[in-house]
Formats: sequence, C-alpha cells, structure tokens
Amino acid sequence: MSITQPARFITLEGIEGVGKSTQLKFIADYLREASVSLTVTREPGGTPIAEAIRALVLQSDFSPEVIIPETELLLFFAARAQHIHYVIKPALQRGDWVLCDRFTETSYAYQGGGRGLDLAFIRSLQLWVQQDLKVDKVLLLDAPVDIALRRMHHRKVADRIEAEKHDFFSRARASYLERAKQMPDFYQVIDASLSLKDVQKQIKQVLDQLLALWAKSEDE
Ligand SMILES: Nc1ncnc2c1ncn2[C@@H]1O[C@H](COP(=O)(O)OP(=O)(O)O)[C@@H](O)[C@H]1O
Ligand SMILES: [Mg+2]
Repeated sequence: MSITQPARFITLEGIEGVGKSTQLKFIADYLREASVSLTVTREPGGTPIAEAIRALVLQSDFSPEVIIPETELLLFFAARAQHIHYVIKPALQRGDWVLCDRFTETSYAYQGGGRGLDLAFIRSLQLWVQQDLKVDKVLLLDAPVDIALRRMHHRKVADRIEAEKHDFFSRARASYLERAKQMPDFYQVIDASLSLKDVQKQIKQVLDQLLALWAKSEDE
C-alpha cells in the first residue's frame, strides 16, 4: 500500500512508566509496515541544543539554587522551538509523518497540572512557539499512578522530574484525562495498565482506524 495521505503528526503522551518509549517502537514498526515514511523523535530533545536543554532541565544540580517552575516551562518550550524548527517542520515538509515521544500536551499536564502554572499562559506559549504547526492526534497511554511508578522501579537513576512524588503524577494524570475529556477527537486514550500485548492490541486498532480515516479524507 502506498501512502497518499498528507504528512501527519502523532504524539505519545502519559506519565512516567506508562510505556511510551516501549510503544513508540511498536507504533513506528507498525506505521512503517503500512508504508508510512516516518520520522521518530522525542521531547525534550531531538536536536543538539534541545538535548543540551534537556540535560540542563533534567540532570543538572545547582543546589541550593533550583529550577523554578516558570524556568522549567520556558526551557521546555525553548527546546521545543529548536525541535520544531530543525526536525519536525522539515520532516513534515518532506512528507514524512512525525511520531514524537511527548510534546506540548506534556507542558499542560506537568507544568500546568503538576506544577500549577497558568494554563492560559501555557496556551499563549504554545501558539507563539508552534505557530501553524498542529498535532493531528495525541495517543494518551493512561494507567493508575501506582502501576506506572512500579514499572519505573528498576530505573537506576531517576531524573529530576522522574524523582517527583506520587501526588505530582496524580495531578499530571488528572490533567491529561481532563484534556482528553475536553478534546475527544484530538486525544485517543489507551488503557496502558494492561499487559504489553493488550496495550499493543488497542494501539493497533487505533492506528488502523487512523490510517483508514486519513486515507479517506485524502480521497475526498
Ligand atoms: N504494558 C506493560 N506491562 C508491563 N510492563 C510494561 C508495559 N509497558 C511498559 N512496560 C515496562 O515498564 C517500564 C517503563 O516503560 P517505558 O516505555 O520506559 O515508559 P515511559 O517511556 O512511558 O516512561 C519498562 O521497563 C517497560 O518494559
Ligand atoms: Mg520514555
């Protein structure tokens, strides 16, 4: 099957440990199998400068000075601006689909829900940084915080955000689910509490639907 759809931008979201990075590979293989020419990337990161910002936000220790929430938000959007300019837009312009591990919805869930920053301000940063760039579909891997955090236990070193407590991730999860409820056509919620196989089964169904829908909209 050759792909005639215009380029699509799909992002994978969810709290730590729900299985985003694991499923990213499955989704990439599945789309490539369907002849989609695909660019796979992640946030924060995706370019040398964005990766440097990632290291600054997630790994650095300047104690007793800490990265305050406002700075965290701005740094993530700064990394995103680089990522959009150097990776995402050029890929979409080439006709590639883009699959990204986390994107702007993370800012709403983590810096908005988790840290309590003003959602309207996040929205204005989104419009300013993304301009005309729109995500086509958000795949939200959702699982109770206990399950997600349990899967993280084997991780030897937690980064600054992974080291947050249960309450922080509860607020982030609630924020994702609230946005999914508000934008049911934009968000696709996937039950990530199930076994790897059962999560993949749901993802496969969703991807089949999207491929069919987007092929149809291209025909019209
Ligand atoms: N459905 C699942 N059932 C059990 N373990 C899982 C499942 N999905 C992922 N894992 C495991 O949980 C851990 C975290 O997964 P990962 O993909 O790194 O999550 P994320 O990228 O969302 O933080 C990994 O060890 C992974 O193998
Ligand atoms: Mg990951």
